[in-house]
Amino acid sequence: MMPAIGYAVRRENRFILSDPKLNAAEITFEHADLPLWTKSFISGDDIDYVAIHALKLSVGSPDPPGKAYLDALKAVAIENNATAISDHLGFTRDGEGGIEMGHFAPVPLTQPALDVVCRNLDFVQKYVDPFPFYIETIAYLFQLEGTMSEPEFLKKMFQRTGVGWLLDITNVYANGRNFGFDPKEFVEEVMPYAPRVQMHLAGGFFDEEQGLYFDTHSQPIPDDVWDLYEYSLKLGQGKVDAVFIERDAEFPGEEEWRRELHKMYDLAEGTSSGQATVNS
Ligand SMILES: [Fe+2]
Repeated sequence: MMPAIGYAVRRENRFILSDPKLNAAEITFEHADLPLWTKSFISGDDIDYVAIHALKLSVGSPDPPGKAYLDALKAVAIENNATAISDHLGFTRDGEGGIEMGHFAPVPLTQPALDVVCRNLDFVQKYVDPFPFYIETIAYLFQLEGTMSEPEFLKKMFQRTGVGWLLDITNVYANGRNFGFDPKEFVEEVMPYAPRVQMHLAGGFFDEEQGLYFDTHSQPIPDDVWDLYEYSLKLGQGKVDAVFIERDAEFPGEEEWRRELHKMYDLAEGTSSGQATVNS
């Protein structure tokens, strides 16, 4: 199965929506009220798959997400004839109406946190039905104390909720590099439990002074991330629905926008036709 191929739409890459190798677009919900992101903007460009990507459901918070936010999210999905909706596994506030941190924090890898996340995901999935929902695993620079590994947490979450996995390849690469685990083993362990998959790709940089990789969405996608992407496509064959590149800063010229899109397409095509090789 060939996944839908696209970009997370930004002002700077909207011209690329007419590229013949692009048939998917991801719209960030928080920007969807701008005229730039509306239905009229993406219609007529042979886009088969539109994902609405939200930032503030905060499914790791103790309270379930607010209904006003969910109503608006669903309305934008309907308006854009969306295929799917997504947000991140983490928390951005302490509770509904509480303090917003403006960034995703990782959930503690504990049974009570798993119960809360699953309850919130069940709630969200019912609310946004019939749109399938995907949860993105985030990049983190710290981990809260826990009682299980991240793959264990994710496997149980997928089994209990049936939620889709938005596998951000660069996030797994960054976490593996920063916390000393093998990203390929991580994907190998979790992938069988994800019922359906979307992917993100992006490029960041390694800060020598801090000894950390930062997923800044500001650089070309590194070779190791392309390698992990190809590997993950192979592991997820038959259930990867869509893949998107995210770029949010230091925007490239047209040639580079197209180069990365075409590379993403070619690797997916090679995998779906059985030509890709997986080197573990
Ligand atoms: Fe992402």
